[in-house]
Amino acid sequence: MANTNYFFVFEGIDGSGKTTLSKLVAESLKAQNKDVIWHREPTDGVHGKKIRSFLSGRISLTVKEQLELFLLDRTESVTQIIAPNIEKGTIIIQDRYYYSTAAYQAGKEISAEEIIRLNEKENFPQPKQVFFLDITPEEAKERRKNRGGNTEAFDDDYAQNRIYENYMKILPKNTIFLDASHSPEDLVSAVMECIEI
Ligand code: TYD
Repeated sequence: MANTNYFFVFEGIDGSGKTTLSKLVAESLKAQNKDVIWHREPTDGVHGKKIRSFLSGRISLTVKEQLELFLLDRTESVTQIIAPNIEKGTIIIQDRYYYSTAAYQAGKEISAEEIIRLNEKENFPQPKQVFFLDITPEEAKERRKNRGGNTEAFDDDYAQNRIYENYMKILPKNTIFLDASHSPEDLVSAVMECIEI
């Protein structure tokens, strides 16, 4: 595997603002004429579509089925997007990766640490840096209420607290914690300084 110096992942609970921030970061890099792609998981592929049906409540899935689908979707994501772009030296700005699976799918059946091990066994490339948009589950809930939209799986307080705690157990050493209450402009500057490309 070529070097993963240009592979950056954004993580956070629902409502933390990581999608907005990661897109702004990708735009800033593009404005500097850098070769960059913005990518997200779940993907828009066949497994990703099924996952989205589950997230919106149209179908139900057991934890085991969720895990299987996220792994299948990730395998596709790595082979079709991540690995080829790493190979080309393109900067990858990615919204969610296997840290999300560990944070969201962990519970009684399987621990967050075990889910990380399952993903590591697949030899998925490891990002150069993970940016974690830090916000309390209560504040994130307020933001979700204000932005409207449909209720999704994992929306309840219990789930969001559990997800936050799981993240704290598994985020890797190269994680940079960002205070999500800062303005998007300040957050973009902070990330751009860390990325140093
Ligand atoms: P999405 O609509 O992309 O929302 P967001 O902008 O908050 O990321 O939905 C992603 C949802 O999928 C989010 O609730 C987290 C969940 N998810 C998992 O449960 N496991 C995973 O492995 C991934 C990548 C996402």
